[in-house]
Amino acid sequence: MGRRGLGVDVGGSGIKGAVVDLDVGALIGDRYKVPTPRPSTPDAVADAVKEVVSHLAWTEPFGATFPGAVIRGVARTAANVDAGWVGADIETLFGQATGLAVTALNDADAAGMAEVAFGAAKEQQGLVVVSTLGTGIGTALVHRGALIPNCELGHLEIDGRDAETRASAAAREREGMSWEKWARHLERYYRAVEDLLWPDLFVIGGGVSRKADRFLPLLHLRTPVVAAHLRNEAGIIGAALMAGASSQRAPQ
Ligand code: BGC
Repeated sequence: MGRRGLGVDVGGSGIKGAVVDLDVGALIGDRYKVPTPRPSTPDAVADAVKEVVSHLAWTEPFGATFPGAVIRGVARTAANVDAGWVGADIETLFGQATGLAVTALNDADAAGMAEVAFGAAKEQQGLVVVSTLGTGIGTALVHRGALIPNCELGHLEIDGRDAETRASAAAREREGMSWEKWARHLERYYRAVEDLLWPDLFVIGGGVSRKADRFLPLLHLRTPVVAAHLRNEAGIIGAALMAGASSQRAPQ
């Protein structure tokens, strides 16, 4: 039997977990999902994470994502979850709730590492920007396989607005935008990113990447763009991959 890990992906609408085959980057068995509690306070979310972990009968260290900047296990921003998260120690909270050791990282960083290890950015030598289009816009910067964590490029200011308020998948749905209209916002956004970073590749993920054929052909960019392979599972797979690996904690 190969190496296994557990990944739990905490999002604004759902908390999803699964056991992952770390040799191939695929889920083993079913994904278990519970709705994100409302309000999504740290204690309520920790209870939900506990439910996911117990349901999957996991008893070893695991990885968890968080939809905000995470530094040494602590949440530093909370754009799409309860403001009470800012300053909360995710690893300690989830660790106490489950009795297990936890490695916490930003959700897009987890997705980025999964795409690099197993997905659309595998074997890419240069700088890859993986973005997840969902409730917000998550971004991960990976250079030659090394993650530069917590780049919050979803909040670039474009035409006076926080980019994710126009170019996220949620913005398209909320405002009933056509694919063409949304693609114009996306193009504007990715052009700003490529002008600043000169990446070798954009990987676009999030649930909406399932419909990549509706909007990728509409994007005219200097940088090659591909749809993520792991889609909504990338966060889970990346969290499992990073569990215990390189906790971003400084040596004590
Ligand atoms: C947050 C990011 C997160 C992204 C996707 C943004 O609003 O600031 O940290 O990765 O949403 O959840």
